[in-house]
Amino acid sequence: MSEDRVLRVGLLGAGVVGAEVARLMVANQVDLAARAGVGLIISKIAVRDLTVDRPGIDPALLTTDAESIVADPEIDLVIEVMGGIEPARTLILTAMAQGKAVVTANKALLAKHGAELFHASDLADVDFYYEAAVAGAIPILRPLAESLVGDHVERVMGIINGTTNYILTKMHETGASFQGALLEAQSLGYAEADPTADIDGFDAAAKAAILAGLAFHTQVTDEDVYREGIRAITADDVSVAKAMGFVIKLLAIAEANELHGSTEETISVRVHPTMIPVTHPLASVREAFNAVYVQCESAGELMFYGRGAGGTPTASAILGDLVAVARNRNEGSLGPTETDYADLDIAPIGVSRTRYLVRMDVADVPGVLAAVASTVAKNDVSILTVRQEGRGADAELVVLTHIATEAALANTVRDLRELAVVQRVVSVIRVEGLI
Ligand code: HSE
Repeated sequence: MSEDRVLRVGLLGAGVVGAEVARLMVANQVDLAARAGVGLIISKIAVRDLTVDRPGIDPALLTTDAESIVADPEIDLVIEVMGGIEPARTLILTAMAQGKAVVTANKALLAKHGAELFHASDLADVDFYYEAAVAGAIPILRPLAESLVGDHVERVMGIINGTTNYILTKMHETGASFQGALLEAQSLGYAEADPTADIDGFDAAAKAAILAGLAFHTQVTDEDVYREGIRAITADDVSVAKAMGFVIKLLAIAEANELHGSTEETISVRVHPTMIPVTHPLASVREAFNAVYVQCESAGELMFYGRGAGGTPTASAILGDLVAVARNRNEGSLGPTETDYADLDIAPIGVSRTRYLVRMDVADVPGVLAAVASTVAKNDVSILTVRQEGRGADAELVVLTHIATEAALANTVRDLRELAVVQRVVSVIRVEGLI
């Protein structure tokens, strides 16, 4: 293969994902070269610590000097899998300014500085691909940006954090507490020692921002995403949901508000625990798997399912991007760029509309139902079903509402808390997927 039929890659990071990218590039080099139409060679790998044992990686490629990779005129493309905001942001911007294409899996960086990075890649006329940043191996960004670009996306609803899905699956299937399921997820290596990014929804919110931006052709950052994690979900919440034919999932939802009859063209982007009927396609997504359910005007409903994390699955998405960039380069062309022409406003959470399940402890006395029903009605919220379980002098009342705004629901809960017969509003969980 002649020199100009080679694409030289600089790899920033050799952790779980980076090491797999390096391994697969060597293991599959013949096929990758045939598909890319050019040999794909790793020139250098930036790591933090040279002394770590990295089986299968040539130690001669390693350097702790990441800047030397993005400045190296011999390197054509940089794969960034170090994660975090800095130095990843500066390294990517420098690589682009040096005319290098960039492939990244960095969701946190894209959700914060996506607009700056897209602008920089446009300015430098280089490809910028990031399929691995959302839902690991699952091809979902290119389908949104390319296959579905002729359609009108109405809603994207996804399970895009495997750790929380594992925890919620264990709670649902074994009756485990949140803490018990979290400990199990940690012992199996799904959840990190500090699980905040996953269980408080930060990871899912970053991915939701990226999905929403592509689906609605609008700049969306992680700050635009309403976020609630799963820490407050109890074994009782799960068991009530289960008894009613629901499963609780941490869902990321990006939707056009016109879907709910609003005449204003705005979108809502939110991440929160959500009850969905066990018959919903997303309900069958178990353990650490991810899935993204897309609703389009013409295509109807689509679902993308697979492994959302892990070295090899994430490397699969990165290598797909690498081959795509190599093919573009052979043609002297670039892949599609981001479009944010729609520039839709992101509605505050109060405007979002969904159904809610409100659990409350009440005194089991005459008139309780009437008092609760009139408080709910006074706030313009309509009740779909009520379930009451007596427990001696007290009872648990479970109210499932029709679709209402978040603002109306918040007012309802505030007023319920003030009722003498309501001892405690135990939990409020949003409900999706009911026809
Ligand atoms: N920690 C993430 C998850 C994977 O549990 O899905 C990386 O985004």
